Amino acid sequence: MSKPKVLVARRVFDSVLQRLAAHFEVEGNDEDRVWPKAELVARLQDKDGAFITGSERIDAEVLEACPRLKAVCNMAVGYNNIDLPACTARGVMASNTPDVLTETTADFGFALMMATARRMAESEHFLRRGEWKQWSYDMFTGSDVHGATLGILGMGRIGRAIARRGHLGFGMPVIYHNRSRLPAEQEAEVGARYVSKEQLLREADHLVLVLPYSAESHHAIGAVELAQMKPESTLTNVARGGIVDDAALAQALRERRIAAAGLDVFEGEPRVNPDLLTLPNVVLTPHIASASVKTRLAMADLAADNLIAALTGGTPPTPLNPEVLAGR
Ligand code: GLV
Repeated sequence: MSKPKVLVARRVFDSVLQRLAAHFEVEGNDEDRVWPKAELVARLQDKDGAFITGSERIDAEVLEACPRLKAVCNMAVGYNNIDLPACTARGVMASNTPDVLTETTADFGFALMMATARRMAESEHFLRRGEWKQWSYDMFTGSDVHGATLGILGMGRIGRAIARRGHLGFGMPVIYHNRSRLPAEQEAEVGARYVSKEQLLREADHLVLVLPYSAESHHAIGAVELAQMKPESTLTNVARGGIVDDAALAQALRERRIAAAGLDVFEGEPRVNPDLLTLPNVVLTPHIASASVKTRLAMADLAADNLIAALTGGTPPTPLNPEVLAGR
């Protein structure tokens, strides 16, 4: 019997390709070009499964054009690039990569928040430009992280891991807002207090966004929300572009209505709002919060585990719509 065919839509670790090749006929993407939709569809048309990343959008139109497809396995925890109801309606299993990236992403979120509060990027650029002539008492003074109030919007696994760092490591009072409130023992574990979104915006010294992107969270932070934040506060986004209105943020940063921002994700990335590029008080990184070597390998292996199990009659470890498997 011939092997099932899979598409690996971006370049990935050789060891992962080799694991997939033991089960499947694999078409890869050595040049690592992000394929336009029509090309993605053309390449997916004869495939039984796909290993994808956040750069590939799997919507109803793609699924309609690729009727052989039985599994799409995302190498990311966020899956706003996948139309999950459309997958479920067509019996296509979709999966993501939760848990394996939680601590690595929380490390980065905390680091970005600290870099933002303590003006690390701005001062490094100053030094590299050769402008450092003497020490002075107020050179690049920022705001403290220890003891400051940490605000978290979106209290899932990564939000809790960031809260734990702030609570246990930095003595920060932690407040959060989420669609649903955590059970009391989980709140106690990370020292977090549930507040309304308005209270979160008003009281946080450092606000970190860790909520999934959806129509509901689109521009959850816009001009109105930024206006409610303290002028000395910072905003850090390690969740998804589009949760923040980047144009409104650029204006708030320019007018110093908040002190600074740290952004790992952007509306329409990899394009970045040009206004943000001109501002000193924003730390910008290219969507790398989960990028430790160990974690990226764990994510790729987990996406491969899901694909192998889904197409060989096994039990995928992290399906998003397990109900489609029951029907097989
Ligand atoms: C990265 O952004 C992810 O969702 O894993």
